Amino acid sequence: MKLRVNGVELELGEGGSLLEAAERAGFKVPTLCHHPAVTARGSCRVCVVEEEGSGVLLTACNTPAREGMSVLLDTERVLEARRKALQLIFSAHPAHCEVCEAANACRLKELAAELGISGRELPLEQDFRPVVDANPFYARDLSKCISCGLCVCACQEVQGVGNYEMLGRGGYARPGTALDTDLEASACEFCGLCASLCPVGALIPKPYLHRGVEEKKVVTVCPYCGVGCSLILKVRENRIVGVEAGVENSVNGWSLCVKGRYGLDFVDHPDRLRKPLIRKEEGLVEVDWDEALDFVASRLKEIRETHGPDSIAFLSSAKATNEENYLLQKLARAAVGTNNVDHCARL
Ligand code: SF4
Ligand code: SF4
Ligand code: SF4
Ligand code: FES
Repeated sequence: MKLRVNGVELELGEGGSLLEAAERAGFKVPTLCHHPAVTARGSCRVCVVEEEGSGVLLTACNTPAREGMSVLLDTERVLEARRKALQLIFSAHPAHCEVCEAANACRLKELAAELGISGRELPLEQDFRPVVDANPFYARDLSKCISCGLCVCACQEVQGVGNYEMLGRGGYARPGTALDTDLEASACEFCGLCASLCPVGALIPKPYLHRGVEEKKVVTVCPYCGVGCSLILKVRENRIVGVEAGVENSVNGWSLCVKGRYGLDFVDHPDRLRKPLIRKEEGLVEVDWDEALDFVASRLKEIRETHGPDSIAFLSSAKATNEENYLLQKLARAAVGTNNVDHCARL
């Protein structure tokens, strides 16, 4: 189909939204409740655009583009409607930016700066909820929830768990579990997708908290299991400050499990083994690799000669490469003579 965005004519496939049309034409439309991982709900109204001719304001993220349409992205009416939408959100939002865990990752704060909103203009209608910090993965500060519904859609559409539903009406709607039980007693798998999509400081991922904003993103493969999910590591000063999914054409799409999302703190953990240790009379002693390998080889030989090859078993690791795992089973079968080989990714 053919349509016009800010006077630019373009072609778009059937089913595309006005937001996609604007992006295709090279324009940026501000969004808050929209994320490419889930179906657009159109709840925040920050992405409004104006249909030329009728003057109707349409939410770009969930309005399908139609043949012959012409939309304008930055008329005075559009900018005013976006500012009003944000002001309504701020009227029910605590002004805690200085001490908020979302810090510089807050999309609401970023949008307010973009649209020139410096403070609350409407009276505060605060729906105060206590902070719930009861598990190692993410805390909930639902006073800051802007009722965007991203967490609900993420859990239903991507993770397939359906743990959250919006409870309550209008600006007082908040994500809650079935029968409003504690998150820890619910069906939650702590995959962390909802917290990673939350645009404000309402769902707060904990494991990499207070490590700052990333300087770069590194695409890699999760070291934990045989699924081989693609990860995007957010890195600052050579430390992981966050983990995301969403690598194009990856096996996992936007999903991760609790290990991939929150389990990479071992990378710079002070207890991580970085050198081989041998237990000697004085306890565990750091040694170099030559000494460690000589020791392992001589002990394996001794055990094999005394108790036979099947007294030895090899357990390999998903943190090693396929080639290293292949070599380990080769060592077990060809050198030691046992089929006792297993791998943590199979568990
Ligand atoms: S969620 Fe964003 S706007 Fe709200 S207090 Fe935190 S930083 Fe400020
Ligand atoms: S952590 Fe995962 S399973 Fe739990 S509510 Fe969020 S999206 Fe659903
Ligand atoms: S908790 Fe976050 S993602 Fe969920 S509805 Fe509230 S603001 Fe949106
Ligand atoms: S981003 Fe479109 S309505 Fe929220």
